[in-house]
Amino acid sequence: MSPTVIPVIFDTDPGVDDAMALCFALAHPRIELLGMTTTFGNVTIAQASSNALYLSQLAGRQIPVAQGAGKPLVKHTEAPPDFIHGADGLGNLNSRKPSDGRVLDGRSAAQFIVDMAHQRPGEITLVPVGPLTNIAAAFALEPQLPQLVKQVVLMGGAVKEAGNVSPVAEANIWNDPHAADTVFTAGFDLAMVGLDVTYQVVVPVSMMEAIAQQHQHPLTDTLMHAVRFYANFYATRYPALKDTPGCFGHDVMAFIALLHPELFQWATGRLRCVTDGITQGQTVWHDRLGIDFPQLGFGAEVPLSRACMQVDVPRVLELFRATLSRPWLHS
Ligand code: BDR
Ligand code: CA
Repeated sequence: MSPTVIPVIFDTDPGVDDAMALCFALAHPRIELLGMTTTFGNVTIAQASSNALYLSQLAGRQIPVAQGAGKPLVKHTEAPPDFIHGADGLGNLNSRKPSDGRVLDGRSAAQFIVDMAHQRPGEITLVPVGPLTNIAAAFALEPQLPQLVKQVVLMGGAVKEAGNVSPVAEANIWNDPHAADTVFTAGFDLAMVGLDVTYQVVVPVSMMEAIAQQHQHPLTDTLMHAVRFYANFYATRYPALKDTPGCFGHDVMAFIALLHPELFQWATGRLRCVTDGITQGQTVWHDRLGIDFPQLGFGAEVPLSRACMQVDVPRVLELFRATLSRPWLHS
């Protein structure tokens, strides 16, 4: 029996690791990419949409791109982290090829998600790797969305690991904590792939170079440029990455956890997000389920979620390398 193909909507703020994740999804034979929905985050919404269209053009694939939220539901918009991903989200590319004329889907990201969920009830996996604003907006449009999609496998948050934009907050969740808490409590079958595991997997720049060398393609050249910029940022933060350049492929881990859950150790618990105050954006994980806390907010009304706690690093890296080494690009 052939392994199942998984229909996915990729909700993304590209972003270097978003681009790495997109390439992985395009290269993997078990991912059916139904569309990309874009969000602000690593870049502005206009830049995110432009990057999604451009990357799909370079890949030579017709993938619907629906533009989503330009700002969080409630909080003020944070400045995009141009020092991590470049002002253009792809490491400040020197030039871009002219557009081949592809345009955005006419629908909002939220409407696209709802429409696709109605077309294929119970089948679609949402893979959000940016702020969760589009997923919350889609849920507002269609309150049955948690039952209409198969699952949500998201990159964001942390259980035991520290934050990366504050002592406790991970960037995607920080960027729209109100949306995150809405999605966490909506009733989705939800898996969180957070910093607990993404900070364990360093993708060596040398691995990306070998892949780019093997393919010699405008998409892998573009990715390589972006990865070098991104790895230079990490070299300033992590002394070990100065000697052996590498980067965290955060968003790639969501796809790997979706395809190969056996490469991770999982925990089950109730997930919430702090929406205000100095711990804004902190994900709060309640897994001592026998305890009947007197305070509201963590009871049975909050659905059980799964979270990745540990990862088999060598096997994940080899899966990433082997997938991107497949003949998935054509000139
Ligand atoms: C997450 O934040 C973004 O900068 C990355 O693309 C990733 O989705 C990591 O915290
Ligand atoms: Ca991202």
